[in-house]
Amino acid sequence: MPDIDRTRVRTLMDRERETFRERHRRSGSLAADAKASLLFGVPMNWMTRWPGDHPVFVDHAEGARFWDVDGNAFVDFCLGDTGGMAGHAPKISVEAIATQAARGITLMLPTEDAAWVGREMTRRFGLPYWNFTLTATDANRFAIRWAREVTERSKVVVHNWCYHGSVDESFAALDAAGRVVARDGNVGKPVDLDETTLVVEINDLGALERALATGDAAVCLFEPALTNIGIVLPEPGYHEAVRELCSKYGTLLLIDETHTISAGPGGCTEAWGLQPDIVTIGKTLGAGIPSAAYGFSEELSQRVYDHTDWRNADVGGVGGTLAGNALSLAAMRATLGEVMTDDAFERMIALGERFEAGVRGVIESRSVPWHVVRLGCRVEYLFRPDRARTGSEAAAGQDDELDPLIHLYLLNRGVLMTPFHNMALMSPATTAEDVDRHTEVFGEAVDELIGRGSAG
Ligand SMILES: Cc1ncc(COP(=O)(O)O)c(C=O)c1O
Repeated sequence: MPDIDRTRVRTLMDRERETFRERHRRSGSLAADAKASLLFGVPMNWMTRWPGDHPVFVDHAEGARFWDVDGNAFVDFCLGDTGGMAGHAPKISVEAIATQAARGITLMLPTEDAAWVGREMTRRFGLPYWNFTLTATDANRFAIRWAREVTERSKVVVHNWCYHGSVDESFAALDAAGRVVARDGNVGKPVDLDETTLVVEINDLGALERALATGDAAVCLFEPALTNIGIVLPEPGYHEAVRELCSKYGTLLLIDETHTISAGPGGCTEAWGLQPDIVTIGKTLGAGIPSAAYGFSEELSQRVYDHTDWRNADVGGVGGTLAGNALSLAAMRATLGEVMTDDAFERMIALGERFEAGVRGVIESRSVPWHVVRLGCRVEYLFRPDRARTGSEAAAGQDDELDPLIHLYLLNRGVLMTPFHNMALMSPATTAEDVDRHTEVFGEAVDELIGRGSAG
Protein backbone atom coordinates (compact mmCIF):
# COMPACT_ATOMS: atom_id res chain seq x y z
CA MET A 1 0.00 0.00 0.00
CA PRO A 2 1.49 3.37 -0.93
CA ASP A 3 1.91 5.78 1.98
CA ILE A 4 0.40 9.18 1.50
CA ASP A 5 3.35 11.54 1.42
CA ARG A 6 2.46 14.50 3.64
CA THR A 7 4.82 16.87 1.86
CA ARG A 8 3.00 16.09 -1.36
CA VAL A 9 -0.35 16.72 0.38
CA ARG A 10 0.83 20.20 1.42
CA THR A 11 2.27 21.00 -2.01
CA LEU A 12 -0.98 19.98 -3.67
CA MET A 13 -2.96 22.01 -1.15
CA ASP A 14 -0.92 25.16 -1.96
CA ARG A 15 -1.49 24.59 -5.67
CA GLU A 16 -5.23 24.00 -5.21
CA ARG A 17 -5.55 27.13 -3.05
CA GLU A 18 -3.97 29.16 -5.83
CA THR A 19 -6.31 27.60 -8.40
CA PHE A 20 -9.26 28.39 -6.12
CA ARG A 21 -8.22 32.06 -5.89
CA GLU A 22 -7.91 32.32 -9.67
CA ARG A 23 -11.28 30.67 -10.34
CA HIS A 24 -13.18 32.63 -7.69
CA ARG A 25 -12.15 36.25 -8.04
CA ARG A 26 -15.66 37.66 -7.80
CA SER A 27 -16.51 35.41 -4.84
CA GLY A 28 -13.28 36.66 -3.26
CA SER A 29 -14.26 40.26 -3.64
CA LEU A 30 -17.82 39.64 -2.37
CA ALA A 31 -16.31 37.83 0.63
CA ALA A 32 -14.05 40.81 1.34
CA ASP A 33 -17.02 43.23 1.13
CA ALA A 34 -19.18 41.00 3.36
CA LYS A 35 -16.68 41.38 6.20
CA ALA A 36 -17.89 44.97 6.62
CA SER A 37 -21.42 43.94 7.61
CA LEU A 38 -21.46 40.25 8.55
CA LEU A 39 -20.01 38.70 11.66
CA PHE A 40 -17.15 36.47 10.41
CA GLY A 41 -17.98 37.78 6.90
CA VAL A 42 -20.67 35.10 6.36
CA PRO A 43 -24.43 34.78 7.00
CA MET A 44 -23.84 31.89 9.46
CA ASN A 45 -20.60 31.14 11.28
CA TRP A 46 -20.10 27.57 9.99
CA MET A 47 -19.76 28.91 6.44
CA THR A 48 -16.20 29.89 7.41
CA ARG A 49 -15.28 26.21 7.47
CA TRP A 50 -15.21 25.55 3.73
CA PRO A 51 -11.74 24.80 2.39
CA GLY A 52 -10.34 27.63 0.26
CA ASP A 53 -9.88 31.19 1.46
CA HIS A 54 -13.59 31.98 1.55
CA PRO A 55 -16.89 30.35 0.60
CA VAL A 56 -18.02 30.25 -3.01
CA PHE A 57 -20.87 32.73 -3.61
CA VAL A 58 -23.79 31.10 -5.42
CA ASP A 59 -25.52 32.68 -8.38
CA HIS A 60 -28.28 30.11 -8.88
CA ALA A 61 -29.02 26.41 -8.47
CA GLU A 62 -31.22 23.90 -10.24
CA GLY A 63 -31.59 20.16 -9.78
CA ALA A 64 -28.28 18.64 -8.71
CA ARG A 65 -26.22 21.59 -10.01
CA PHE A 66 -25.38 25.15 -9.10
CA TRP A 67 -23.49 28.01 -10.69
CA ASP A 68 -21.34 30.51 -8.82
CA VAL A 69 -20.93 34.24 -9.36
CA ASP A 70 -17.72 33.63 -11.34
CA GLY A 71 -19.63 31.48 -13.84
CA ASN A 72 -18.25 28.12 -12.62
CA ALA A 73 -20.68 25.18 -12.76
CA PHE A 74 -20.82 22.50 -10.06
CA VAL A 75 -22.33 19.07 -9.55
CA ASP A 76 -23.68 19.30 -6.01
CA PHE A 77 -23.32 16.24 -3.77
CA CYS A 78 -23.57 18.40 -0.64
CA LEU A 79 -27.14 19.46 -1.39
CA GLY A 80 -27.19 21.90 1.50
CA ASP A 81 -26.18 19.07 3.85
CA THR A 82 -29.58 17.44 3.17
CA GLY A 83 -31.59 20.70 3.11
CA GLY A 84 -31.50 20.48 -0.69
CA MET A 85 -31.81 16.69 -0.92
CA ALA A 86 -34.97 17.05 -3.04
CA GLY A 87 -32.76 18.74 -5.65
CA HIS A 88 -32.49 22.51 -5.96
CA ALA A 89 -35.70 24.34 -6.84
CA PRO A 90 -37.71 21.24 -7.87
CA LYS A 91 -40.36 22.57 -10.23
CA ILE A 92 -43.35 20.97 -8.50
CA SER A 93 -42.35 22.25 -5.06
CA VAL A 94 -41.50 25.71 -6.41
CA GLU A 95 -44.93 25.98 -8.04
CA ALA A 96 -46.70 24.91 -4.85
CA ILE A 97 -44.57 27.31 -2.80
CA ALA A 98 -45.27 30.22 -5.17
CA THR A 99 -48.99 29.43 -5.21
CA GLN A 100 -49.21 29.27 -1.42
CA ALA A 101 -47.03 32.36 -0.94
CA ALA A 102 -49.50 34.31 -3.06
CA ARG A 103 -52.38 32.98 -0.91
CA GLY A 104 -50.86 33.68 2.52
CA ILE A 105 -47.68 32.56 4.23
CA THR A 106 -48.31 32.37 7.95
CA LEU A 107 -51.58 32.73 9.85
CA MET A 108 -51.45 30.90 13.21
CA LEU A 109 -54.23 28.73 11.76
CA PRO A 110 -54.10 25.37 9.99
CA THR A 111 -54.57 24.85 6.27
CA GLU A 112 -55.79 21.65 4.60
CA ASP A 113 -52.23 20.61 3.82
CA ALA A 114 -51.38 19.94 7.48
CA ALA A 115 -53.44 16.78 7.94
CA TRP A 116 -52.34 15.50 4.51
CA VAL A 117 -48.71 15.82 5.55
CA GLY A 118 -49.47 14.18 8.90
CA ARG A 119 -51.01 11.17 7.12
CA GLU A 120 -48.03 10.93 4.76
CA MET A 121 -45.60 10.99 7.68
CA THR A 122 -47.58 8.15 9.27
CA ARG A 123 -47.45 6.17 6.02
CA ARG A 124 -43.68 6.57 5.91
CA PHE A 125 -42.61 6.30 9.55
CA GLY A 126 -45.52 4.41 11.13
CA LEU A 127 -46.11 6.79 14.06
CA PRO A 128 -49.70 8.10 14.19
CA TYR A 129 -49.51 11.69 15.50
CA TRP A 130 -47.36 14.58 14.23
CA ASN A 131 -46.56 18.22 14.90
CA PHE A 132 -44.42 20.57 12.83
CA THR A 133 -41.54 22.93 13.50
CA LEU A 134 -39.18 24.94 11.31
CA THR A 135 -35.98 23.04 12.06
CA ALA A 136 -34.89 19.58 13.09
CA THR A 137 -33.22 21.22 16.08
CA ASP A 138 -36.60 22.46 17.27
CA ALA A 139 -38.24 19.11 16.60
CA ASN A 140 -35.62 17.49 18.83
CA ARG A 141 -35.87 20.19 21.50
CA PHE A 142 -39.65 19.91 21.75
CA ALA A 143 -39.61 16.11 21.73
CA ILE A 144 -37.06 16.15 24.56
CA ARG A 145 -39.27 18.51 26.57
CA TRP A 146 -42.24 16.18 26.19
CA ALA A 147 -40.09 13.20 27.10
CA ARG A 148 -38.96 14.91 30.31
CA GLU A 149 -42.50 15.99 31.08
CA VAL A 150 -44.11 12.56 30.78
CA THR A 151 -41.30 10.49 32.32
CA GLU A 152 -40.55 13.01 35.07
CA ARG A 153 -36.85 12.30 34.50
CA SER A 154 -34.15 14.79 33.63
CA LYS A 155 -31.51 13.24 31.40
CA VAL A 156 -31.03 12.67 27.69
CA VAL A 157 -28.87 9.80 26.42
CA VAL A 158 -26.88 10.46 23.24
CA HIS A 159 -24.26 8.64 21.19
CA ASN A 160 -20.69 9.87 21.47
CA TRP A 161 -19.89 12.13 18.46
CA CYS A 162 -23.56 12.57 17.62
CA TYR A 163 -24.99 15.70 16.07
CA HIS A 164 -28.67 16.61 16.39
CA GLY A 165 -28.60 20.33 15.66
CA SER A 166 -28.05 23.03 18.25
CA VAL A 167 -29.74 21.08 21.04
CA ASP A 168 -27.98 22.01 24.32
CA GLU A 169 -28.09 18.51 25.80
CA SER A 170 -26.50 16.92 22.73
CA PHE A 171 -23.17 18.80 22.89
CA ALA A 172 -21.79 16.23 25.28
CA ALA A 173 -18.92 13.84 24.69
CA LEU A 174 -16.89 11.28 26.59
CA ASP A 175 -13.39 12.33 27.65
CA ALA A 176 -10.47 9.90 27.76
CA ALA A 177 -11.51 8.77 31.24
CA GLY A 178 -15.10 8.12 30.11
CA ARG A 179 -16.55 11.19 31.85
CA VAL A 180 -19.29 13.29 30.25
CA VAL A 181 -17.90 16.69 29.22
CA ALA A 182 -18.87 19.48 26.83
CA ARG A 183 -17.71 18.94 23.26
CA ASP A 184 -14.89 21.16 22.03
CA GLY A 185 -16.25 24.42 20.67
CA ASN A 186 -19.52 24.29 22.64
CA VAL A 187 -20.42 27.98 22.88
CA GLY A 188 -21.77 29.34 26.18
CA LYS A 189 -23.08 26.12 27.66
CA PRO A 190 -25.98 26.83 30.03
CA VAL A 191 -24.94 24.18 32.58
CA ASP A 192 -22.33 21.45 32.83
CA LEU A 193 -23.23 18.70 30.37
CA ASP A 194 -23.04 15.90 32.94
CA GLU A 195 -26.11 17.48 34.58
CA THR A 196 -28.23 16.96 31.48
CA THR A 197 -26.73 14.15 29.45
CA LEU A 198 -25.53 10.57 29.52
CA VAL A 199 -23.19 9.61 26.66
CA VAL A 200 -22.61 6.14 25.23
CA GLU A 201 -20.80 4.92 22.16
CA ILE A 202 -23.02 3.57 19.40
CA ASN A 203 -22.87 -0.26 19.43
CA ASP A 204 -21.94 -0.39 23.15
CA LEU A 205 -24.97 -2.07 24.71
CA GLY A 206 -23.25 -2.61 28.07
CA ALA A 207 -22.69 1.14 28.44
CA LEU A 208 -26.27 1.83 27.35
CA GLU A 209 -27.68 -0.52 29.98
CA ARG A 210 -25.53 1.12 32.67
CA ALA A 211 -26.78 4.55 31.58
CA LEU A 212 -30.43 3.50 31.59
CA ALA A 213 -30.10 1.65 34.90
CA THR A 214 -29.43 5.00 36.62
CA GLY A 215 -33.19 5.59 36.27
CA ASP A 216 -32.48 9.21 35.25
CA ALA A 217 -32.85 8.83 31.49
CA ALA A 218 -36.00 10.38 30.03
CA VAL A 219 -35.11 9.68 26.42
CA CYS A 220 -32.45 8.23 24.13
CA LEU A 221 -31.86 10.73 21.32
CA PHE A 222 -30.26 8.55 18.66
CA GLU A 223 -29.59 8.64 14.95
CA PRO A 224 -30.10 5.08 13.67
CA ALA A 225 -26.57 5.33 12.22
CA LEU A 226 -24.18 8.16 13.01
CA THR A 227 -23.92 10.42 9.97
CA ASN A 228 -22.09 13.47 11.23
CA ILE A 229 -18.68 11.95 11.95
CA GLY A 230 -18.57 9.84 8.84
CA ILE A 231 -21.19 7.11 8.68
CA VAL A 232 -21.05 4.63 11.56
CA LEU A 233 -23.55 1.83 11.02
CA PRO A 234 -25.22 -0.13 13.82
CA GLU A 235 -24.12 -3.71 14.28
CA PRO A 236 -26.67 -6.48 13.69
CA GLY A 237 -29.10 -6.66 16.60
CA TYR A 238 -28.11 -3.25 18.04
CA HIS A 239 -31.45 -1.56 17.48
CA GLU A 240 -33.52 -4.48 18.72
CA ALA A 241 -31.47 -4.45 21.93
CA VAL A 242 -31.79 -0.65 22.26
CA ARG A 243 -35.58 -0.98 21.99
CA GLU A 244 -35.67 -3.72 24.62
CA LEU A 245 -33.46 -1.80 27.04
CA CYS A 246 -35.52 1.37 26.65
CA SER A 247 -38.72 -0.54 27.39
CA LYS A 248 -37.10 -2.34 30.34
CA TYR A 249 -35.94 0.90 32.00
CA GLY A 250 -38.89 3.15 31.05
CA THR A 251 -36.82 5.42 28.81
CA LEU A 252 -38.36 6.77 25.62
CA LEU A 253 -36.64 6.10 22.30
CA LEU A 254 -36.34 9.03 19.89
CA ILE A 255 -34.99 8.26 16.42
CA ASP A 256 -33.71 11.33 14.56
CA GLU A 257 -34.14 10.61 10.82
CA THR A 258 -32.98 14.02 9.57
CA HIS A 259 -30.03 12.53 7.68
CA THR A 260 -30.88 8.83 7.69
CA ILE A 261 -33.91 9.38 5.50
CA SER A 262 -31.27 8.52 2.90
CA ALA A 263 -32.13 4.86 3.70
CA GLY A 264 -35.56 5.17 2.06
CA PRO A 265 -38.85 7.10 2.04
CA GLY A 266 -39.43 6.29 5.73
CA GLY A 267 -35.77 6.42 6.75
CA CYS A 268 -34.21 3.61 8.76
CA THR A 269 -37.37 3.40 10.86
CA GLU A 270 -39.19 1.92 7.89
CA ALA A 271 -36.23 0.25 6.17
CA TRP A 272 -35.05 -1.57 9.30
CA GLY A 273 -38.41 -1.96 11.08
CA LEU A 274 -37.45 0.16 14.09
CA GLN A 275 -40.00 0.77 16.86
CA PRO A 276 -39.31 4.25 18.25
CA ASP A 277 -41.63 6.20 20.55
CA ILE A 278 -40.68 9.39 18.73
CA VAL A 279 -39.35 10.23 15.26
CA THR A 280 -37.91 13.63 14.39
CA ILE A 281 -36.92 14.87 10.97
CA GLY A 282 -36.21 18.20 9.25
CA LYS A 283 -34.13 19.69 6.46
CA THR A 284 -35.38 17.98 3.31
CA LEU A 285 -39.13 17.82 3.95
CA GLY A 286 -40.05 21.13 2.30
CA ALA A 287 -37.41 21.22 -0.47
CA GLY A 288 -35.48 23.76 1.60
CA ILE A 289 -38.37 25.86 2.89
CA PRO A 290 -37.87 25.59 6.67
CA SER A 291 -39.92 22.54 7.66
CA ALA A 292 -39.50 19.82 10.24
CA ALA A 293 -41.64 17.39 12.18
CA TYR A 294 -41.89 15.19 15.25
CA GLY A 295 -44.17 12.20 15.53
CA PHE A 296 -45.31 10.25 18.60
CA SER A 297 -46.54 6.69 19.11
CA GLU A 298 -50.15 6.11 20.15
CA GLU A 299 -49.12 5.37 23.73
CA LEU A 300 -46.85 8.38 24.08
CA SER A 301 -49.50 10.64 22.55
CA GLN A 302 -51.95 9.59 25.28
CA ARG A 303 -49.36 10.39 27.94
CA VAL A 304 -48.73 13.75 26.30
CA TYR A 305 -52.47 14.55 26.31
CA ASP A 306 -52.63 13.60 29.99
CA HIS A 307 -49.80 16.02 30.78
CA THR A 308 -51.01 18.90 28.62
CA ASP A 309 -51.95 22.18 30.26
CA TRP A 310 -54.23 23.36 27.45
CA ARG A 311 -54.64 26.90 28.81
CA ASN A 312 -50.89 27.48 28.67
CA ALA A 313 -50.03 25.53 25.53
CA ASP A 314 -48.58 28.65 23.89
CA VAL A 315 -46.05 29.44 26.63
CA GLY A 316 -44.97 25.97 27.72
CA GLY A 317 -41.65 25.82 25.90
CA VAL A 318 -43.04 23.91 22.91
CA GLY A 319 -43.93 26.42 20.25
CA GLY A 320 -42.70 28.82 17.63
CA THR A 321 -44.91 31.46 16.05
CA LEU A 322 -43.99 30.41 12.53
CA ALA A 323 -44.08 26.65 13.23
CA GLY A 324 -46.63 24.75 11.12
CA ASN A 325 -47.09 27.75 8.83
CA ALA A 326 -49.07 27.48 5.60
CA LEU A 327 -46.05 27.91 3.35
CA SER A 328 -43.93 25.15 4.86
CA LEU A 329 -46.88 22.74 4.86
CA ALA A 330 -47.59 23.45 1.20
CA ALA A 331 -43.89 22.88 0.48
CA MET A 332 -43.92 19.60 2.41
CA ARG A 333 -47.07 18.36 0.71
CA ALA A 334 -45.69 18.95 -2.77
CA THR A 335 -42.20 17.68 -1.95
CA LEU A 336 -43.26 14.51 -0.14
CA GLY A 337 -46.14 13.86 -2.50
CA GLU A 338 -44.42 14.39 -5.83
CA VAL A 339 -40.66 14.84 -5.51
CA MET A 340 -39.24 12.64 -2.73
CA THR A 341 -41.44 9.73 -3.77
CA ASP A 342 -40.86 6.01 -3.29
CA ASP A 343 -39.81 5.77 -6.97
CA ALA A 344 -37.38 8.67 -6.58
CA PHE A 345 -35.74 6.90 -3.63
CA GLU A 346 -35.26 3.77 -5.72
CA ARG A 347 -33.34 5.77 -8.31
CA MET A 348 -31.39 7.73 -5.70
CA ILE A 349 -30.32 4.58 -3.86
CA ALA A 350 -29.18 2.98 -7.13
CA LEU A 351 -27.04 6.08 -7.73
CA GLY A 352 -25.68 5.76 -4.20
CA GLU A 353 -24.62 2.21 -5.05
CA ARG A 354 -22.95 3.48 -8.24
CA PHE A 355 -21.13 6.18 -6.27
CA GLU A 356 -19.96 3.63 -3.70
CA ALA A 357 -18.76 1.23 -6.41
CA GLY A 358 -16.88 4.04 -8.16
CA VAL A 359 -15.08 5.10 -4.99
CA ARG A 360 -14.33 1.50 -4.03
CA GLY A 361 -12.90 0.92 -7.52
CA VAL A 362 -10.52 3.88 -7.10
CA ILE A 363 -9.49 2.83 -3.58
CA GLU A 364 -8.82 -0.76 -4.63
CA SER A 365 -7.11 -0.04 -7.93
CA ARG A 366 -4.74 2.46 -6.23
CA SER A 367 -4.37 0.32 -3.08
CA VAL A 368 -4.87 3.29 -0.74
CA PRO A 369 -5.72 2.39 2.87
CA TRP A 370 -9.20 3.92 2.89
CA HIS A 371 -12.77 2.69 2.81
CA VAL A 372 -16.21 3.73 1.67
CA VAL A 373 -19.53 3.26 3.48
CA ARG A 374 -23.09 3.85 2.31
CA LEU A 375 -26.52 4.32 3.85
CA GLY A 376 -29.04 4.24 1.00
CA CYS A 377 -28.33 7.29 -1.13
CA ARG A 378 -25.73 8.76 1.27
CA VAL A 379 -22.12 7.73 0.75
CA GLU A 380 -19.01 8.60 2.71
CA TYR A 381 -15.32 7.78 2.38
CA LEU A 382 -12.94 7.82 5.28
CA PHE A 383 -9.16 7.88 5.22
CA ARG A 384 -8.71 4.81 7.40
CA PRO A 385 -8.61 1.19 6.27
CA ASP A 386 -11.58 -0.28 8.07
CA ARG A 387 -15.03 0.78 9.08
CA ALA A 388 -15.39 2.64 12.37
CA ARG A 389 -17.49 0.80 14.95
CA THR A 390 -17.95 3.80 17.25
CA GLY A 391 -18.02 7.56 17.03
CA SER A 392 -14.60 7.79 18.71
CA GLU A 393 -13.06 5.48 16.11
CA ALA A 394 -14.60 7.54 13.31
CA ALA A 395 -13.36 10.78 14.89
CA ALA A 396 -9.85 9.36 15.15
CA GLY A 397 -10.05 8.58 11.42
CA GLN A 398 -10.65 12.21 10.40
CA ASP A 399 -7.68 13.62 8.54
CA ASP A 400 -7.19 17.36 8.93
CA GLU A 401 -5.00 17.56 5.84
CA LEU A 402 -6.55 15.07 3.44
CA ASP A 403 -10.18 16.04 4.09
CA PRO A 404 -9.77 19.68 3.01
CA LEU A 405 -7.44 18.76 0.15
CA ILE A 406 -9.89 16.31 -1.42
CA HIS A 407 -12.71 18.80 -0.97
CA LEU A 408 -10.83 21.60 -2.62
CA TYR A 409 -9.47 19.38 -5.40
CA LEU A 410 -13.01 18.26 -6.27
CA LEU A 411 -14.44 21.77 -5.91
CA ASN A 412 -11.81 23.17 -8.27
CA ARG A 413 -13.02 20.62 -10.84
CA GLY A 414 -16.72 21.34 -10.39
CA VAL A 415 -17.73 18.74 -7.81
CA LEU A 416 -19.02 19.80 -4.39
CA MET A 417 -18.94 17.40 -1.44
CA THR A 418 -20.46 17.99 2.01
CA PRO A 419 -17.91 19.88 4.06
CA PHE A 420 -16.14 18.73 7.24
CA HIS A 421 -16.00 15.12 6.05
CA ASN A 422 -16.33 13.37 2.67
CA MET A 423 -20.00 12.83 2.24
CA ALA A 424 -22.08 12.68 -0.92
CA LEU A 425 -25.84 12.65 -1.19
CA MET A 426 -27.94 11.77 -4.25
CA SER A 427 -31.07 13.76 -5.13
CA PRO A 428 -33.91 12.86 -7.52
CA ALA A 429 -32.15 15.12 -10.05
CA THR A 430 -28.69 13.52 -9.74
CA THR A 431 -27.58 11.55 -12.81
CA ALA A 432 -25.23 8.64 -13.46
CA GLU A 433 -22.96 11.09 -15.34
CA ASP A 434 -22.74 13.26 -12.21
CA VAL A 435 -21.68 10.24 -10.19
CA ASP A 436 -19.14 9.16 -12.80
CA ARG A 437 -17.68 12.67 -12.91
CA HIS A 438 -16.96 12.38 -9.19
CA THR A 439 -15.33 8.97 -9.67
CA GLU A 440 -13.13 10.37 -12.43
CA VAL A 441 -11.96 13.41 -10.45
CA PHE A 442 -11.53 11.41 -7.24
CA GLY A 443 -9.35 8.97 -9.20
CA GLU A 444 -7.23 11.85 -10.53
CA ALA A 445 -6.83 13.24 -7.02
CA VAL A 446 -5.66 9.89 -5.66
CA ASP A 447 -3.26 9.44 -8.59
CA GLU A 448 -1.67 12.78 -7.81
CA LEU A 449 -1.51 11.95 -4.11
CA ILE A 450 0.34 8.69 -4.67
CA GLY A 451 2.62 10.18 -7.30
CA ARG A 452 1.06 8.65 -10.40
CA GLY A 453 -0.33 11.90 -11.79
CA SER A 454 0.96 15.27 -12.95
CA ALA A 455 2.23 16.39 -9.50
CA GLY A 456 4.21 13.15 -9.22
C1 LIG B 1 -29.16 14.17 12.55
C2 LIG B 1 -29.45 15.64 12.62
N1 LIG B 1 -30.48 16.07 13.36
C3 LIG B 1 -30.79 17.37 13.44
C4 LIG B 1 -30.03 18.31 12.78
C5 LIG B 1 -30.39 19.77 12.91
O1 LIG B 1 -30.89 20.29 11.75
P1 LIG B 1 -31.13 21.87 11.67
O2 LIG B 1 -29.77 22.49 11.77
O3 LIG B 1 -31.76 22.08 10.34
O4 LIG B 1 -31.99 22.25 12.81
C6 LIG B 1 -28.94 17.92 12.03
C7 LIG B 1 -28.11 18.90 11.31
O5 LIG B 1 -27.12 18.61 10.68
C8 LIG B 1 -28.63 16.54 11.94
O6 LIG B 1 -27.58 16.10 11.24
